[in-house]
Amino acid sequence: MSLPVIPQILIESIAGRLLETDCDCLVVGIGDEGAMSSAAADIDQQFNGWLVKSIASGLMKTGYGEMLLMPLPPAIGALKHAPKSLLFVGFGKATQLDRGKTHLLGSTIMRRLCDAQRDLVVVSLDPLVPHECHDAFIAGSITGCDGQAIYVTEPKAFAPGSIAFEGVSEEAIVSGKTIGDSINVVRRLVNEPPNRMYPQRFAEAAQAIASDVGLGIEVWDEKRLEAEGCRALLAVGAASAKPSRMVILHYRGGAESLPSIALVGKGVTFDSGGLSIKPSDGMIDMKCDMAGAATVLGVMRALAILKVPVNVVGLCGLAENMISGEAFKLGDVIETRKGTMIEILNTDAEGRVVLADVLDVAVQYQPAAIVDLATLTGACMVALGCDVAGLMTNNEPLCRDICSAAEGQGELVWQLPMFDFYREQIKSKVADIKNVGDGRWGGAITAAKFLEQFVDCVPWVHIDIAGPAFAESAKPHRDAGATGVMLRTLVGWLQSRAAG
Ligand code: BES
Ligand code: MN
Ligand code: ZN
Repeated sequence: MSLPVIPQILIESIAGRLLETDCDCLVVGIGDEGAMSSAAADIDQQFNGWLVKSIASGLMKTGYGEMLLMPLPPAIGALKHAPKSLLFVGFGKATQLDRGKTHLLGSTIMRRLCDAQRDLVVVSLDPLVPHECHDAFIAGSITGCDGQAIYVTEPKAFAPGSIAFEGVSEEAIVSGKTIGDSINVVRRLVNEPPNRMYPQRFAEAAQAIASDVGLGIEVWDEKRLEAEGCRALLAVGAASAKPSRMVILHYRGGAESLPSIALVGKGVTFDSGGLSIKPSDGMIDMKCDMAGAATVLGVMRALAILKVPVNVVGLCGLAENMISGEAFKLGDVIETRKGTMIEILNTDAEGRVVLADVLDVAVQYQPAAIVDLATLTGACMVALGCDVAGLMTNNEPLCRDICSAAEGQGELVWQLPMFDFYREQIKSKVADIKNVGDGRWGGAITAAKFLEQFVDCVPWVHIDIAGPAFAESAKPHRDAGATGVMLRTLVGWLQSRAAG
């Protein structure tokens, strides 16, 4: 069984007369109000004003995301070499392009071009895409080439061998490629079926990535977890034939004296619900329940390659929530690593039980902040829908920083309140705390209130990605399945923190 491999697309910068490149497709950007990429202007001239006329007549549309793919006869006009096809792409109002829209456009374009095998795609974007968005365009393009059909014997989608972007800097290439590839690594880990991606295999994948990019790594096996008192995490994995793990990744790019940031991920490699078993419909996509852990790994990978000057510890709590004679049960009381007694009243509220121990390990590093990522509650999806991540915090300024990082990347987040009275709902009659609220209402928040008990007073943001981590259906810019959501936000947040 092979570990996830990153599809390698060669990314290059290209200059000169793009209309004369011998490529499989030339992507030609056209914008509103006569805005044109260099190749568009060239085409218009080569063909006596044909492009401007086509736009004026409405046959060619310039609105954001509009696309028209056409083949080109060989030796057209007086061109020595020419692209085999042209893809006209509307960039809309160029002044309205931000990083989010640029990323989205890049992925939409490349997803469109995965319908057939192409060796070289050339993209004329100058001057439509602002320089500060070049990396986002490249990252988006790379994610557009990847999808969930990883075990289809005869593929129907084809990533190009290489993409050449007009006038992009080496810096934009490194940054865009790192982010794009890292998002695809996350998606690949999450898209792997649960018979192939279980705690040990996740740990192996983490080890491979860590040695690849130069991250420190510890893997706690079941013996170590027991010695460390991680009884809550072990309880969730107790019924599984696959032993639980904790993966701790270390990245130190900042000054020795700089305190660490802790990133914590829920890594339930399959969530059957346990004895509080899920119906089939609710269980179908539950391989996605390790998306938080995968995102932590992906962010750590990106930080190491980009050498971001911060210190970060990444912790992944890995368990499979199954059923057997060893399963944790309703009514069980478990003493967490921290010493808190938790009463289990629903074995399907397992993520918070896993995270109780992982957060406690995180606190031991005395981090300046903890951010956790978890596909934690269906209730968060009821509140915010499938495309928006829910943020909950014990520290408003930290939460604002993460919100603005998300806004800067075009990722959708919304904060939910953490009023004290929600805490009432998780009081237990027999132990310190119970693992579900009194009813369904406010379920995303009562879950966060549970987590809050384990972060002490460390500034903390909880990101519930149950909705956006895994998509039920495809969109023009991405396949269905894992999305890699929040990677851009977290890398962007850490970069801006490093910049002060
Ligand atoms: N992993 C699920 C949450 C989830 C649901 C993630 C849908 C992605 C898509 C979590 O472990 C869970 O089962 N939560 C329960 C909690 C409840 C029992 C208090 C839920 O949301 O129903
Ligand atoms: Mn569950
Ligand atoms: Zn779960």
